[in-house]
Amino acid sequence: MIIERQEDVTRAVLAEIQRAPDARFREIMSAFVRHMHDLAREVKLTEEELRTAAGYVVQLGKHTTETHNEAVLIAGSLGLSSLVCLLNNGDNGQTETDASLLGPFWRMHSPATANGGSIVRSPTPGPALFVRAWFKDTAGRPIAGAEVDIWQSSPEGFYENQDPAQADMNLRGKFTTGIDGHIAFRSVKPAGYPIPVDGPVGELLRAQGRHNMRPAHLHFLATRDEFKTLISQIYVNDDPHLDSDVQFGVTRHLIGNYVRHEGPAPAADAASPWYALDHTFVMEAGESKLPRAPIRGKATGERPELPVLQRRS
Ligand SMILES: [Fe+2]
Repeated sequence: MIIERQEDVTRAVLAEIQRAPDARFREIMSAFVRHMHDLAREVKLTEEELRTAAGYVVQLGKHTTETHNEAVLIAGSLGLSSLVCLLNNGDNGQTETDASLLGPFWRMHSPATANGGSIVRSPTPGPALFVRAWFKDTAGRPIAGAEVDIWQSSPEGFYENQDPAQADMNLRGKFTTGIDGHIAFRSVKPAGYPIPVDGPVGELLRAQGRHNMRPAHLHFLATRDEFKTLISQIYVNDDPHLDSDVQFGVTRHLIGNYVRHEGPAPAADAASPWYALDHTFVMEAGESKLPRAPIRGKATGERPELPVLQRRS
């Protein structure tokens, strides 16, 4: 098509996309082009702003490594990951769901750990946490034989992959539900943590006057044949950033009841105070499929500096 006026550009691109044999690809790309072109019209995007945007995309790639995924971080920081999660779970976003974001820190091959075992694999400060979790189907029947990956930040705010001071796979473990659909494990109470701001996501947050904190949480990833893989995060109820999560992941249903206890703990070597969390997860029928792990390795060298941004009032 010879372009006579600006509207023709959109028509020409949409016409070319019709050549794609894959219907879903045509649908997504057509909508993407329409919305992107409309955005440029609405804000009257300048040539310089387009060059800045292209440079920004390049930076997202350059800041992505084996141990860090800046593309996942920007999707979360713009709320897209949370929106897509809610659209695809809980009866298409109509009911509450245990599903939440995968985040950038899940690794494959967490160490298999017996029920009741600990995921603390190198000296880690912080109050002891005893977790009991139940996995049920939508009719309330226990799901036996589900594999459940757990991962969390240390009370100092680092995942082990970011932190050479922690043992490989510290605060990670893989459990299998028993006949009653139950797992139990010992850990330490997770802390909220700042997401990295040394790349383009940091630039975005500074420009918007946002802080970079995630409220404390435990990650769960449960798989069993005939059930949709359940990816969840259970947030700590006393965290000050529950209503301003930089990744927009907190729904009311996902705020856990982390109960503070004083006195004797379930393990003799656990000091007071200690915490307990009980949570029941509901898995929906569907395809059991593991996501692609956003990272594969563990950082070496020094523990990174993770600056905390102040939220503009
Ligand atoms: Fe996390």
